[in-house]
Amino acid sequence: VDLSAETEAGIGDEGAVGPAIVVGLADAVRDIWVKSASGAAGTQAGAGAGAGAGAGAGAGAGAGAGAGARAGPGAGATEMPDMGTFGDEDYAIRSGKDGSIYLLGGGEKGVLYAAFGFIRLLQTGGDIRVLQTVERPAYPLRMIDHWDNADGSVERGYAGGSLFFNDGRLGERLDRIRDYARLTASIGINAVAVNNVNVHAEETRLLAPERLDDVARVADVLREYGIALYLSVNFAAPIELGGLVTADPLDPAVAAWWRDTTDEVCRRIPGFGGFAVKADSEHRPGPFTYGRDHADGANMLADVLAPHGGTVIWRCFVYDCKQDWRDRRTDRARAAYDHFMPLDGAFRDNVVLQIKHGPMDFQVREPVSPLLLGLRRTQIALELQITQEYTGQQRHLCYLLPMWKEVLDFEAGDGRTVADAAGGRKGGTKVAGRLGGPDTGGRKDGSADADRQGGEAAAMGGWRGGLAAVSNVGTDANWTGHLHAQANWYGYGRLAWDPSATAEAIGREWIRMALGPDASVEETVIKMLMDSHAIYESYTAPLGVGWMVQPNHHYGPNVDGYEYSPWGTYHYADRAGIGVDRTVATGTGYAGQYPPAAAAMYESPRTCPDELLLFFHHVPYDARLKTGKTVIQHIYDTRFEGAERAAGLLAAWNSIADRLPARVHMDVRARLAHQAEHAREWRDQLNTYFYRKSGIPDAQGRTIY
Ligand code: GCU
Repeated sequence: VDLSAETEAGIGDEGAVGPAIVVGLADAVRDIWVKSASGAAGTQAGAGAGAGAGAGAGAGAGAGAGAGARAGPGAGATEMPDMGTFGDEDYAIRSGKDGSIYLLGGGEKGVLYAAFGFIRLLQTGGDIRVLQTVERPAYPLRMIDHWDNADGSVERGYAGGSLFFNDGRLGERLDRIRDYARLTASIGINAVAVNNVNVHAEETRLLAPERLDDVARVADVLREYGIALYLSVNFAAPIELGGLVTADPLDPAVAAWWRDTTDEVCRRIPGFGGFAVKADSEHRPGPFTYGRDHADGANMLADVLAPHGGTVIWRCFVYDCKQDWRDRRTDRARAAYDHFMPLDGAFRDNVVLQIKHGPMDFQVREPVSPLLLGLRRTQIALELQITQEYTGQQRHLCYLLPMWKEVLDFEAGDGRTVADAAGGRKGGTKVAGRLGGPDTGGRKDGSADADRQGGEAAAMGGWRGGLAAVSNVGTDANWTGHLHAQANWYGYGRLAWDPSATAEAIGREWIRMALGPDASVEETVIKMLMDSHAIYESYTAPLGVGWMVQPNHHYGPNVDGYEYSPWGTYHYADRAGIGVDRTVATGTGYAGQYPPAAAAMYESPRTCPDELLLFFHHVPYDARLKTGKTVIQHIYDTRFEGAERAAGLLAAWNSIADRLPARVHMDVRARLAHQAEHAREWRDQLNTYFYRKSGIPDAQGRTIY
């Protein structure tokens, strides 16, 4: 397939509203016509031309593009859509008379996504004879957060070093950054924060005028692919960079410093996305230092970004990381809701609160954060972690989409899901409506905008929220270290575009693109992917307890690793039982943060789902689960099964060895062999620990040390 641009032409009698580009496509179809409703398609053909190197080719095993595509001249024309209703990112793919194919975008970005969408069709063997796709993204914000540091390291990165930074410099490897931009746009991402949310001294200086050329160079490349660059900023930058004595958000000199700085950033970087902020969290500075709340902090930054159309992504990962383990009342799970629910409606329209999917920290099993459904008058983004910090660090196979789907589909009894909430849809969502600027006053003003109704209208109009996720890519040749971790990257983008897509369908797309159109490879690998999260959970984290990992790097088992630490993450196992009492009646009260139906379900051990029992309740080892098993027997059984099934992943991969490129097969095989062995270590450490605590033997008499 040759997707290089050949000529420019008008679509003419096919119903053109602007210029188009004709792209040659070998023999499969006669022409592909690319056009956008805004009439600006010129730069997009090149972008489309490279799209084949997206998620698939990075594997070094890319499928022959178009391998299974079926088309033939004159196969069947489909009606042209009414593009007047198209947003900038919407697109359609249509078959014309005589075998032409039309890639139609509402704007430049739509054209770009149409090109990638068409290439995806070819790569996945889709039927291209009669095309009538209309696609529009579910969320305006589809963001990737990089935790990349100026020194080239990546916090929680498991795929090599930073793509953006090396030796303190940003943007020196522009070729690789361009590949990255194409990879990222090919899955529909439109926002990227390039530096770590933990902003150290060196990254604080990215805002300095002499560093903005570097930032601008990267932004230029990303912009070509429809991606807005964001910077993570240090809330204390006015002190550390500006030489002020305070970073108090209500101090006029502080606001003025941010305004001047932001004006310059936006002057140098057209289309600058905005700031991502981790404040008052894990030793990062924030408004609490000055007795201010998080709306004060976020709104001050929102006001200086508003004239430039920028957004503040303000993280809700705020908790006490210096907790005394003897203090049984403080519950880290409560923190985000306790801090942010009272501020609902207090944020400017260009503030998006970024909320981790669970109340803790990306564990393999957590309940859904009640804050996601609680906030009704504030823009939100659901935060996921693609990088596998707690899910095997890209040495274990763990396909995260089944878990993310559970989060997106979660609803608390009223039919409004997390997927709806992230899009500002359904159930009385009302955008706060204070557009900001110093003269629109404080948070309690009643401007006309404040009455703007949300719901579906908010989703179509002023809504800026959506999904954000921590990147898992780095300088490794296949981008993600573990080849199969590409499926998480790819799948995140696909879900952010359409949260109703299934984990299995997305997994199959990735397999076809990364490993080629081989049915037996596809069947084997999709089963590996779909089983992998449950397998990982079953040897690591029983019944929602989590956190039994080595401190700091978080890899490998250590049951008491965080039991007596200041980070507030405990299992409370003793000789009689295990789990954390988070009930309203006798525990920390966390269960009461949910809407009534969900709160009632979690409050009672009888109705609490088994997989979260120990998250919500402290129970004796011989308490019965809904399966009829006791808690301790469940712990033993799942560990033994988990280790066995991890070994099964290796066996499955070995069974398709001769159908895959040797290098690809061997690299993954080495990781799966490690996983199988490491799963046995998890099994034995956890079983031994709980056997010694409880003194209850395994009913099946298997070896426990
Ligand atoms: C986790 C992770 C940190 C990260 C933090 C965050 O705690 O271990 O590395 O900085 O999340 O999300 O800010």
